This record gives sequence, structure tokens and C-alpha cells, in this order.
Amino acid sequence: DLAAVSTEVGGAIRAVPDFPSPGIVFRDITPLLSDGPLLRTLVDALAATYSGTVDVVAGIESRGFLLAAPLATALGLGLVPIRKAGKLPPPVIAQPYELEYGSAVLELREGALAPGARVLLVDDVLATGGTVGAAADLVERAGGMVSAVCVLIELLDLGGRAALAGRRVDAVVAY
Ligand code: PRP
Ligand code: ADE
Repeated sequence: DLAAVSTEVGGAIRAVPDFPSPGIVFRDITPLLSDGPLLRTLVDALAATYSGTVDVVAGIESRGFLLAAPLATALGLGLVPIRKAGKLPPPVIAQPYELEYGSAVLELREGALAPGARVLLVDDVLATGGTVGAAADLVERAGGMVSAVCVLIELLDLGGRAALAGRRVDAVVAY
């Protein structure tokens, strides 16, 4: 289960003060991604958590893709990319949102989800919840159901879960 891998995964995430702007403690997952055995342990634990309960994995650009792709493969499921504005060809559904350090728009291809598809939403960090909240809204506007939101890291101080009220949120590590 996820609790069993939490300590080891947390040990491979680096805290970088004042990046990308003053006052932000950036949580860098690249040491974790570099550790092949640990990355496999993590992906296997995530796959065991969701096996048989979801129909498709939706990954959020760009760091979310790094986890969503191996997880979809481990589950034997398809991957639907949720991308920043202007990257996917039309027709798309668009949703604006606020970041911890800026604002942006997410897009999902129209027709990407089968009606009623059970979707596992994957991202690296839950901060204010703006990103995953916008992604969840997109999935539901597109006719899918958000079975669970899976993030590697939850930043508790920013209260992102509130933006996802009523949806299941699983975090491997919380700060
Ligand atoms: C980061 C991170 C999450 C989001 C979390 O993405 O990967 O997607 O911010 O913040 P929130 O909960 O406050 O919305 P970013 O937009 O920096 O993009 P990247 O993955 O392309 O680096
Ligand atoms: N995305 C939003 N806030 C973040 C943080 N503090 N570290 C890494 N990614 C983030």
C-alpha cells in the first residue's frame, strides 16, 4: 500500500527553498525519478492501489505525465493527457485555473473519454488544488467520473483538498 512506500519516497524528494520565486519551497521529484528500483516500487504500489477500479489514467502536464504514463502501463490502461493551453489540437475543452505562482489554462481533447469512464487523475504535487481541481472539472465536463485523485506530494498548508471536496484524494507523501 501507499503508506508502506511513503518514507522511502519522501527520502528521495528534495526541498529547494525560494524556487521558482521567493518564499516557495519547491519539492523536486527528480532524485526519485532517477532511482530506478524506487520508481518501480512506487509505480507498483500505485498500480496495486487502483487495479480493477479505474478505466483510464489522466495525467496532468508536465510533471504529472512522468507518473501517469508508467502507472497507466502498469495497470494496462490508456493514458489521457490533460495539457496546458494551445498544445492539443482542436476540438478541446478548456478550463482556467490559479497556481501557487501564476495562472494558466488546462485542456482536454473532446471525445477523449468514454461516457461514464472511471478516471484516475494523476499529478506530482497538490498545492492550492487549482490544477487538479481544474482537471477534475474538465474530466467531468467531458463525461467522465473522477474515481480518485492521486498525487505524489500534498502540501498541507495550502489546503488543496478543499478544492476537491467530495473527491477521493490519495497522497504518497505530505508536508
Ligand atoms: C505544478 C505541479 C502541479 C501544480 C500544483 O505544475 O506539477 O501540477 O503546480 O499546484 P496547485 O495545486 O496550486 O495547482 P506547474 O504548472 O508548475 O507545471 P509543470 O508540471 O509543467 O512544471
Ligand atoms: N507546484 C506547486 N507548488 C509546488 C511546490 N512547492 N513544489 C513543486 N511543485 C509545485
